[in-house]
Amino acid sequence: MADQPLLQLDNVTAGYGDAVVLHGISLTLPENGSLAVLGRNGVGKTTLLLTIMGYTQLRTGRVLWRGQDMSRMPPHRRATQGIGWVAQEREVFPSLTVEENLTVASRPGPWDMAAVFKLFPRLSERRRNMGNQLSGGEQQMLATARALMTNPALLLLDEPCEGLAPVIVDELIAAIKLLLADRRVAIVLVEQHTEVALELTADAIVLERGAVAHAAPSAQLSQDAATLERLVGLRVAATP
Ligand SMILES: Nc1ncnc2c1ncn2[C@@H]1O[C@H](COP(=O)(O)OP(=O)(O)OP(=O)(O)O)[C@@H](O)[C@H]1O
Ligand SMILES: [Mg+2]
Repeated sequence: MADQPLLQLDNVTAGYGDAVVLHGISLTLPENGSLAVLGRNGVGKTTLLLTIMGYTQLRTGRVLWRGQDMSRMPPHRRATQGIGWVAQEREVFPSLTVEENLTVASRPGPWDMAAVFKLFPRLSERRRNMGNQLSGGEQQMLATARALMTNPALLLLDEPCEGLAPVIVDELIAAIKLLLADRRVAIVLVEQHTEVALELTADAIVLERGAVAHAAPSAQLSQDAATLERLVGLRVAATP
């Protein structure tokens, strides 16, 4: 059904075993949409991505994919349905080359080795290096490229810029921008670099203690210094 959103969370409460972390989360992401997930440390941003992937325990609510209830679907089936996930830990196979890391993830579609090398020229230069010979930034690029090789309809990115040198951050951001401009994949972006996340995305939510404390178009939130300072702790210069 073409008019269905790609992803919808409907009043989702979820966590780990007895620990409930997310409380009553609702959100909607259209096909090719982009959503920034902001908030301080430990508010549940990673848990939200894990819940979309199916790795947490859903207590109440539903996760809908193109209108179909996928609440009970295991993670590997969600991946086959088109959800690509790049973990905060940037998992790559250490003893496989860059090319091999990409090949094992490959599924048919527009994203093939040539396309991801075009997006990440630095990876192309490193194609014969092993996963464990890469810098943190290169590992992040490889983890993202691997997720793209599965040709997902939705890409979940968990703090891609965390701990990376500014020059690499710039390269990554440029690549994410190209990805979004290409409009063939939707993105949920968890990012501590608030201005960057808001510049890249169409919509944003801010989590506080596992709940959505604020939801707004990203352009609007980027002008809302008071809300950002209250919920993210970011001091934004007042706009004249
Ligand atoms: N496997 C787990 N079992 C139990 N509780 C967990 C588990 N993983 C995370 N938590 C708890 O869930 C809460 C949210 O953690 P989460 O990692 O989702 O936050 P986050 O917003 O991604 O934080 P950060 O900005 O540090 O990455 C925290 O209180 C954390 O201690
Ligand atoms: Mg996290």
